[in-house]
Amino acid sequence: MHINLKAGRIGSEVDTTVIVGLFEEDRLEEGDSPVMESALRRFLREILAMGDFKGDGEEVAVLYPRGLAPPSRVILVGLGNRDAFNLESARRASGIAVKKALKLGVTELSTAIHGLDTQDLPPEDCAQATVEGLLLGAYRYDEFKSGGSDGSSLENLTVLIPRRAQAGDIADGIETGRIIAEGTILARDLSNAPGNALPPRKLAAAARRMASDSGLSCRILTRKQIENERMGALLAVNAGSDEPPRFIILEYGEPAGNRDTIVLIGKGITFDSGGISIKPAGGMEEMKHDMSGAAAVVGAMHSIGLLKPPVHVVGLIPATENLPDGKALKPGDVITSLSGKTIEVINTDAEGRLVLADALGFAERYEPAAVIDLATLTGACVVALGHAASGMMGSDEALMDRVRTAGEATGERVWPLPLWKEYHDQIKSHVADVKNTGGRWGGALTAGAFLQKFVDRPWAHLDIAGTAYTESSKPYCPKGATGVGVRLLVQLVKDWNP
Ligand code: BES
Ligand code: MN
Ligand code: ZN
Repeated sequence: MHINLKAGRIGSEVDTTVIVGLFEEDRLEEGDSPVMESALRRFLREILAMGDFKGDGEEVAVLYPRGLAPPSRVILVGLGNRDAFNLESARRASGIAVKKALKLGVTELSTAIHGLDTQDLPPEDCAQATVEGLLLGAYRYDEFKSGGSDGSSLENLTVLIPRRAQAGDIADGIETGRIIAEGTILARDLSNAPGNALPPRKLAAAARRMASDSGLSCRILTRKQIENERMGALLAVNAGSDEPPRFIILEYGEPAGNRDTIVLIGKGITFDSGGISIKPAGGMEEMKHDMSGAAAVVGAMHSIGLLKPPVHVVGLIPATENLPDGKALKPGDVITSLSGKTIEVINTDAEGRLVLADALGFAERYEPAAVIDLATLTGACVVALGHAASGMMGSDEALMDRVRTAGEATGERVWPLPLWKEYHDQIKSHVADVKNTGGRWGGALTAGAFLQKFVDRPWAHLDIAGTAYTESSKPYCPKGATGVGVRLLVQLVKDWNP
């Protein structure tokens, strides 16, 4: 897919399909506009006068000017109320419009940048959001469809830049949007991959390929090296699997006096059956997504490698399957994590926190200024917040503030949950230093409290169990993996040094 930048007004190109966003208030009155060609304005004005298109946030209409204006097809998309407009509105409008276009079989598309004529949003950000929504809305997972996807795929995208606009900034925004969408799409592809197609070995190979494409360094620990590191928790979860574990280390930049180190950790359970504490059959296939935290880290590191922010970023991924077997980890077993802390395993289905414990311990050696982990960790978090936000816990208010801000900016919302002493009390063990479950109540919080025992740095934990994949298609995401976390992490890292 090619992205072309073109200076000019919307509606100036002959025989094209063009996406135009309109606010509820827009009437396109007589007069010259720096943004839209007058023939197209006149054409659209009449349609607005009919009252058929109201411009609300979910609305889309396809119009055929038939010689009254140069384009052959106009995809009109609602931007909602002008005062309520934000970058998320731009992404959603773009996604809705591109889906419509692909359904019609369009392969070449021009788009206006949504929100350019609003006062308070930087043009660069509007351009970025428009491109993100477009590329993410065009996403489909058709790896295993022998006939290919339904509908067309996008070959050429032209972004129209009004002549009087800040063209340099806008071009930067378009490129940033492209790079971030690419990272998000990589994360979606990894998370959507079936368990048999992406065991830990393949996940590691994909991370290595990404690293070489994006100029990062990559080290992959195999079983022997994982044993040498004494990652007893990762090895314990892996015991029931015939696929060997991997511990993936991605690195962007290097430690330097004036550069903070940020460690990103992603849960990489390539399939979670629950192990001996086996899950019920219904919906178990969704547990192929249990490496969505890992996918987010790989996707974010890809974008970070290309955007080159002035920080040192390390990505860590403990990867294994969780399966039942004669050699598998059992309830009642006591294991020793990398940190030396012992863990009584009550439920082998609480495996994510085990592998994360070793990764959190490993992170300490980088003396990071911040550690952020992402994990499809608990069903309880989905009960608490549904699919509208990821749960956030942590040890450092300033870091959590930054994460919350990045979440708002990207539309990847997070919501704080507490880590009070009571939750730590729930995971006291009679035989080991800690046990891996805390009983029925507050499951997201006892999981967070468990992780906290393994980290000594400013730390934030994102439980993405409810946001990593979706059962129904969203404006810029089809059913399946969302790639959640990529955009938030990239934003956080980009904004690290203001
Ligand atoms: N991967 C699951 C959590 C999950 C559940 C993710 C639903 C996405 C959707 C995790 O490993 C798990 O099984 N957690 C258990 C913990 C329990 C045994 C304490 C859970 O949430 O039931
Ligand atoms: Mn589990
Ligand atoms: Zn799991």
